[in-house]
Amino acid sequence: MRDTAAPAEIAPLLLEWYDRHARMLPWRVPPQSGARAGPYRVWLSEVMLQQTTVAAVKGYFERFTARWPTVEALAAADDAEVMAEWAGLGYYARARNLMRCARAVAAMGGFPRTRAELMELPGIGPYTASAIAAIAFDAPETVVDGNVERVMARLFDEHTPLPAAKPILIDHAARLTPQMRPGDYAQAVMDLGATICTPRNPACGICPLRVPCTARAAGTATRLPQKTRKAAKPVRFGIAYIGQRADGAWLMERRPDRGLLGGTLGWPGTDWREAAPVEAPPIPADWQDAGAEVRHTFTHFHLRLSLRVARLPLATEGHFIAAEEFDPAQLPTLMRKAHALAAHHFTPL
Ligand code: ADE
Repeated sequence: MRDTAAPAEIAPLLLEWYDRHARMLPWRVPPQSGARAGPYRVWLSEVMLQQTTVAAVKGYFERFTARWPTVEALAAADDAEVMAEWAGLGYYARARNLMRCARAVAAMGGFPRTRAELMELPGIGPYTASAIAAIAFDAPETVVDGNVERVMARLFDEHTPLPAAKPILIDHAARLTPQMRPGDYAQAVMDLGATICTPRNPACGICPLRVPCTARAAGTATRLPQKTRKAAKPVRFGIAYIGQRADGAWLMERRPDRGLLGGTLGWPGTDWREAAPVEAPPIPADWQDAGAEVRHTFTHFHLRLSLRVARLPLATEGHFIAAEEFDPAQLPTLMRKAHALAAHHFTPL
């Protein structure tokens, strides 16, 4: 019996497994192909994958790279067009930082290669900097996302709950990171967490790390990582106003760059508060209760958004989006849901 996994044996086991079982992902170059993914594609995929699943990201990544194949192309793009392509991915601050970062990188003549320099760029934190340095430049940096935390907690049978366990798990991960093929290794740990060392039903029987894994030996794998219970999310309330002019144009607004849904297009409305909202129509009109409520969950609260609808006279002035330019797919999910619930109040043109 021994009580820790021996660091030197982990990376070779994982790399051998990765050579046979690496997932084929649009941003990835297969192992043993002799090539490496470029920093633009690694960066873009890692930013999209923060808080979003691989399945959801694939289509967005393919559309982005088809439309803007290089960081220079993205840097030259129109902000509103990038926001529209990002719509539905959530966490819109990522898209705003994406543009700032693309412009900074284009101005520098390309991505820097070290973790420290990468971290100076807008929107690139320790995780993304390590991922780009490791995957694009094969630097021996340690990449720790939720998957890696879970793999480390189990491999070392670490019972300290997250988030307090984070530095301990990073430490374990750092000691296992090899000098050879660190980029493939980083992706191998993530793939192991996503496909075998899964949260609920880990497939320990086919895991390449089943022999060194201490949680498997102790029978604790499914209980790890432990997490400190989070406080319940509060409910906030608001009202959104969906108005359509006689020519089919929609009354909309672009939200300020800062804050939730910053920089995105949507329906005007009240602030979102825990108390009952007070009507605040964007313009005087015959606003009617749409009799439906959108429910949407953000990171820190649940939102219940009541809807008001109005048909507006042709002469109405304001920030209108013409019918032929209106595409609900380009709205954030909350605003798209609101439109879907209210659309039957408006006759198709
Ligand atoms: N999740 C986040 N980044 C990833 C990557 N590069 N490979 C697999 N899963 C990931």
